[in-house]
Amino acid sequence: MDKEKIIQHIEAYVKKRLMKEETGHDWWHTDRVRKTAKIIAHHEGADVFVCELIALLHDAADHKFGYTDDERVHLITEILEENEVNQEITTEVIYVINNMSYKSGQNKHTLKTLHGKIVQDADRLDAIGAVGIARTFAYGGAAGRVMYDPTLDEADDSIDTFSHFYTKLLKLKNGMHTSYARKIAEERHEIMEVFLRDFLNEWNTNNTKNERE
Ligand code: NI
Repeated sequence: MDKEKIIQHIEAYVKKRLMKEETGHDWWHTDRVRKTAKIIAHHEGADVFVCELIALLHDAADHKFGYTDDERVHLITEILEENEVNQEITTEVIYVINNMSYKSGQNKHTLKTLHGKIVQDADRLDAIGAVGIARTFAYGGAAGRVMYDPTLDEADDSIDTFSHFYTKLLKLKNGMHTSYARKIAEERHEIMEVFLRDFLNEWNTNNTKNERE
């Protein structure tokens, strides 16, 4: 296997598929996840090539774009076969991608391979922090949700995007598998907490910084 060539081909393939995606799962999300996954893989002494492959393909045929499990398996198998990726790696890539997605909070599956854990950490890191905030509102807008509904009694992310921080994003830091991701997650978690606090302060026109301390 010429790993460099495989990565080049698969990168071009995924880029073409995801470039125009508008819900925060565009090509640049995949590119960030790939880069973070490679850094974590180095830290963990894991196979960087396998992690990069999984990261590149992790959103290429996701259920949120309307693909069924069968269609996703077919598509990923096809592209890996075309690039002569061996059977062992292909099996793992498919296993991880089929099981790593959050699926609206219903995913209870714990990934069994280190490569899977690494890419899941990288994917979750991209959901939090400054970029995570931007992606969350991009996604909420695309799904037709308002930014914030002050009349809600409890968080409901089918109604407003703001709730999504409480139903999902603020919980992600506790689910990180690797120590590197845990460290970065702490920092990004704090960015979200500051943002949420400032958002509510501005919303309530409490403009004086000192007043809220
Ligand atoms: Ni993703």
